[in-house]
Amino acid sequence: MRETVHVPLGARAYDVVIGPGLLAQAGALISPMLPRPRVAIVTETRVAALHLEALRAGLAAAGIQSEALELPPGETTKSWAHLEQVSEWLLDQKIERRDVVIALGGGVIGDLVGFACAILRRGVRFVQVPTSLLAQVDSSVGGKTAINASQGKNLIGAFHQPSLVLADTDTLNTLTPRDFLSGYGEVMKYGLLGDADFFEWLEQNAPAMAGGDMGLRVRAVKRSVEMKAAIVTRDETEQGERALLNLGHTFCHALEAATGYGDRLLHGEGVAIGCGLAFEVSSRLGLCSQEDPSRVRAHLKAMGMKTDLSDIPGELPGAGALLELMGQDKKVVAGTLNFVMARGIGDAFVTSDVSGDVVLDVLNDALSMR
Ligand SMILES: NC(=O)c1ccc[n+]([C@@H]2O[C@H](COP(=O)([O-])OP(=O)(O)OC[C@H]3O[C@@H](n4cnc5c(N)ncnc54)[C@H](O)[C@@H]3O)[C@@H](O)[C@H]2O)c1
Repeated sequence: MRETVHVPLGARAYDVVIGPGLLAQAGALISPMLPRPRVAIVTETRVAALHLEALRAGLAAAGIQSEALELPPGETTKSWAHLEQVSEWLLDQKIERRDVVIALGGGVIGDLVGFACAILRRGVRFVQVPTSLLAQVDSSVGGKTAINASQGKNLIGAFHQPSLVLADTDTLNTLTPRDFLSGYGEVMKYGLLGDADFFEWLEQNAPAMAGGDMGLRVRAVKRSVEMKAAIVTRDETEQGERALLNLGHTFCHALEAATGYGDRLLHGEGVAIGCGLAFEVSSRLGLCSQEDPSRVRAHLKAMGMKTDLSDIPGELPGAGALLELMGQDKKVVAGTLNFVMARGIGDAFVTSDVSGDVVLDVLNDALSMR
């Protein structure tokens, strides 16, 4: 059941290996990269309690010695303070330029450790071992690394590609159902943005996949990674096409800011709701059919996911304030807000030509359903 997706980025090319049981094989997979049989692992306590020993045993089976640093879990770990802690710990471990650092965890650990490796000794190699669905299908691939600033999320960062990604689909078994479904928001996004057949496949198979079917999980992660790899290969540093990956994200970022980046709304939940809103705006602009937003929402409901603004607990600001928050998105270029719109399911495109009035109407209608 093991699959490999190659990311052909020339001197920065790497493989994404996907399948169950990869932690046990990590030593065999990583050892060809090592100048000496020693690695440093950075993880967080929740993931460490579940998967660190399996990873260390897999490394030891190939004679690789490992040291591990455990950080607190959660988004607040993507901070200057933890960047300093990771960097100094790696220096204390005498990690050299040709050594390999392993990031074991979800997107928080991948982004933080990736950034630490980008700046440590002006660039140290790292292996992503993503343990959340979101990290396996999205954040571990493509080389975006970052920490958060008090001014906003992911504002301090660098492009630094991993040297290998090991997506062990067994690790998904220990995610809470809510974290799994949040990651699924990003899986669904790939179908919506560029592969109608994949979206149709998800409509038929995603409930069984969420229920635990490993074969379906491997196929869904593989197709998602293939799509991300293809887009990243054509536009590594987001000069154009890579922005397609932000389908639903402009709405999501406004909703995350409005809800305080916390438990009220997880990132993938915001992406899912944002995809529904992006299709609604596309439909009102006459770009796609009226059935398309209904189909997106029907799928989210079938998956038991947050679908509408009314599914977000607590108060939300008004439509004008949400639009204002969208304007603070870091994808704003020269003051113009770029949107990812759709001509249909599987056919998204980037445009700055979206009337704020239509967005306001859609948000007002969505808020009035609360
Ligand atoms: N670099 C990129 O391209 C990119 C893309 C998308 C998102 N991101 C970033 O990713 C982050 C979100 O990622 P995330 O959703 O993985 O967050 P996360 O790392 O906080 O993980 C989500 C939750 O799942 C837990 N967890 C992770 N793996 C687990 C496992 N196997 N079993 C049990 N629990 C587990 C974590 O402890 C956490 O509570 C955000 O910071 C976002 O900005 C980055």
